[in-house]
Amino acid sequence: MSLNRLKPELSEILSRDDLKVDDRLTRVCELLQQNVDYYNWVGFYFADHNTRTLHLKSFAGEPTDHTVIPFGKGICGQVAESNSNFVVPDVQAQDNYIACSLHVKAEIVVPLFKDGKNIGQIDIDSHKSDPFSAEDEAFLEWVNKKVAEIL
Ligand code: SME
Repeated sequence: MSLNRLKPELSEILSRDDLKVDDRLTRVCELLQQNVDYYNWVGFYFADHNTRTLHLKSFAGEPTDHTVIPFGKGICGQVAESNSNFVVPDVQAQDNYIACSLHVKAEIVVPLFKDGKNIGQIDIDSHKSDPFSAEDEAFLEWVNKKVAEIL
Protein backbone atom coordinates (compact mmCIF):
# COMPACT_ATOMS: atom_id res chain seq x y z
CA MET A 1 0.00 0.00 0.00
CA SER A 2 1.63 3.19 -1.14
CA LEU A 3 1.10 6.39 0.78
CA ASN A 4 1.67 8.34 -2.42
CA ARG A 5 -1.71 7.23 -3.75
CA LEU A 6 -3.26 9.71 -1.31
CA LYS A 7 -1.42 12.72 -2.75
CA PRO A 8 -3.96 13.72 -5.44
CA GLU A 9 -6.83 13.82 -2.92
CA LEU A 10 -4.71 15.68 -0.36
CA SER A 11 -3.78 18.29 -2.98
CA GLU A 12 -7.42 18.63 -3.91
CA ILE A 13 -8.49 19.21 -0.29
CA LEU A 14 -5.76 21.78 0.34
CA SER A 15 -6.67 23.73 -2.79
CA ARG A 16 -10.33 24.14 -1.68
CA ASP A 17 -10.51 27.94 -1.44
CA ASP A 18 -14.18 27.65 -0.44
CA LEU A 19 -13.16 26.02 2.87
CA LYS A 20 -11.42 27.71 5.79
CA VAL A 21 -7.84 26.61 6.36
CA ASP A 22 -8.76 24.88 9.65
CA ASP A 23 -11.46 22.87 7.90
CA ARG A 24 -9.06 21.86 5.13
CA LEU A 25 -6.55 20.71 7.77
CA THR A 26 -9.26 18.70 9.56
CA ARG A 27 -10.12 16.98 6.28
CA VAL A 28 -6.45 16.20 5.70
CA CYS A 29 -6.28 14.61 9.18
CA GLU A 30 -9.45 12.61 8.50
CA LEU A 31 -8.23 11.38 5.11
CA LEU A 32 -4.94 10.20 6.59
CA GLN A 33 -6.53 8.61 9.66
CA GLN A 34 -9.17 6.79 7.62
CA ASN A 35 -6.92 5.53 4.83
CA VAL A 36 -3.72 4.44 6.54
CA ASP A 37 -4.48 1.60 8.93
CA TYR A 38 -1.60 2.37 11.31
CA TYR A 39 -2.38 6.13 11.50
CA ASN A 40 -4.77 6.02 14.48
CA TRP A 41 -4.60 9.67 15.56
CA VAL A 42 -3.51 12.51 13.28
CA GLY A 43 -3.20 16.15 14.32
CA PHE A 44 -1.57 19.47 13.48
CA TYR A 45 -0.04 21.54 16.28
CA PHE A 46 1.07 25.13 15.65
CA ALA A 47 3.66 27.07 17.61
CA ASP A 48 3.26 30.29 19.56
CA HIS A 49 6.88 31.42 19.70
CA ASN A 50 6.13 34.14 22.28
CA THR A 51 4.77 31.76 24.90
CA ARG A 52 6.87 28.82 23.60
CA THR A 53 3.84 26.54 23.43
CA LEU A 54 2.26 24.32 20.78
CA HIS A 55 -1.49 24.49 20.15
CA LEU A 56 -3.63 21.75 18.63
CA LYS A 57 -5.46 23.16 15.61
CA SER A 58 -7.01 20.21 13.77
CA PHE A 59 -7.12 16.49 14.38
CA ALA A 60 -8.82 13.18 13.61
CA GLY A 61 -9.17 10.39 16.16
CA GLU A 62 -9.99 10.41 19.86
CA PRO A 63 -10.08 13.87 21.48
CA THR A 64 -6.95 14.56 23.55
CA ASP A 65 -6.44 16.58 26.75
CA HIS A 66 -3.08 17.74 25.38
CA THR A 67 -4.21 20.69 23.31
CA VAL A 68 -1.39 22.93 24.59
CA ILE A 69 2.15 21.54 24.92
CA PRO A 70 5.15 23.57 26.14
CA PHE A 71 8.27 23.56 23.94
CA GLY A 72 10.62 20.83 25.19
CA LYS A 73 7.85 18.65 26.67
CA GLY A 74 6.93 15.32 25.10
CA ILE A 75 7.82 14.23 21.60
CA CYS A 76 5.96 17.22 20.13
CA GLY A 77 7.68 19.77 22.36
CA GLN A 78 11.08 18.32 21.55
CA VAL A 79 10.43 18.68 17.80
CA ALA A 80 9.46 22.33 18.35
CA GLU A 81 13.07 22.85 19.48
CA SER A 82 15.01 20.32 17.37
CA ASN A 83 13.46 21.20 13.98
CA SER A 84 13.91 17.51 13.07
CA ASN A 85 11.63 14.56 12.45
CA PHE A 86 11.15 12.38 15.53
CA VAL A 87 10.22 8.75 14.89
CA VAL A 88 9.37 6.77 18.01
CA PRO A 89 9.04 3.02 17.36
CA ASP A 90 8.17 2.31 21.02
CA VAL A 91 6.72 5.12 23.14
CA GLN A 92 7.36 3.18 26.36
CA ALA A 93 11.10 3.50 25.77
CA GLN A 94 10.84 7.34 25.89
CA ASP A 95 11.35 9.28 29.14
CA ASN A 96 10.12 12.59 27.74
CA TYR A 97 6.78 11.42 26.38
CA ILE A 98 3.22 12.66 27.00
CA ALA A 99 0.79 9.72 26.93
CA CYS A 100 -2.54 10.48 25.24
CA SER A 101 -4.00 6.98 25.16
CA LEU A 102 -3.03 3.60 26.54
CA HIS A 103 -3.45 2.11 23.07
CA VAL A 104 -0.64 4.17 21.53
CA LYS A 105 2.52 2.18 20.86
CA ALA A 106 4.41 4.41 18.41
CA GLU A 107 4.48 8.02 17.26
CA ILE A 108 5.92 10.17 14.47
CA VAL A 109 6.25 13.96 14.54
CA VAL A 110 7.40 15.91 11.48
CA PRO A 111 8.01 19.67 11.73
CA LEU A 112 6.21 22.08 9.42
CA PHE A 113 8.30 24.92 8.00
CA LYS A 114 7.07 28.20 6.54
CA ASP A 115 9.75 30.44 5.00
CA GLY A 116 12.37 28.34 6.78
CA LYS A 117 10.79 28.73 10.23
CA ASN A 118 9.49 25.79 12.29
CA ILE A 119 5.88 26.93 12.82
CA GLY A 120 4.21 23.65 13.75
CA GLN A 121 4.10 19.96 13.12
CA ILE A 122 2.07 16.96 12.10
CA ASP A 123 1.77 14.36 14.87
CA ILE A 124 0.64 10.78 14.27
CA ASP A 125 0.01 8.11 16.90
CA SER A 126 -0.15 4.42 16.06
CA HIS A 127 -1.59 1.45 17.88
CA LYS A 128 1.01 -0.72 16.10
CA SER A 129 4.58 -1.18 17.28
CA ASP A 130 7.34 0.22 15.06
CA PRO A 131 5.12 0.95 12.02
CA PHE A 132 6.87 4.03 10.59
CA SER A 133 9.51 3.98 7.85
CA ALA A 134 11.44 6.47 5.73
CA GLU A 135 8.42 6.38 3.39
CA ASP A 136 6.21 7.90 6.12
CA GLU A 137 8.79 10.60 6.83
CA ALA A 138 9.08 11.58 3.14
CA PHE A 139 5.30 11.49 2.70
CA LEU A 140 4.59 13.62 5.79
CA GLU A 141 7.29 16.12 4.77
CA TRP A 142 5.44 16.41 1.46
CA VAL A 143 2.09 16.92 3.28
CA ASN A 144 3.61 19.67 5.44
CA LYS A 145 5.09 21.44 2.39
CA LYS A 146 1.67 21.45 0.75
CA VAL A 147 0.06 22.75 3.97
CA ALA A 148 2.68 25.52 4.26
CA GLU A 149 1.61 26.76 0.82
CA ILE A 150 -1.87 27.68 2.10
CA LEU A 151 -0.77 29.31 5.37
N1 SME B 1 2.42 12.06 22.63
C1 SME B 1 2.66 13.45 22.35
C2 SME B 1 1.54 14.32 22.88
C3 SME B 1 0.47 14.58 21.89
S1 SME B 1 -0.59 13.26 21.70
O1 SME B 1 0.17 12.19 20.96
C4 SME B 1 -1.90 13.67 20.80
C5 SME B 1 3.97 13.89 22.92
O2 SME B 1 4.64 13.14 23.64
O3 SME B 1 4.37 15.02 22.66
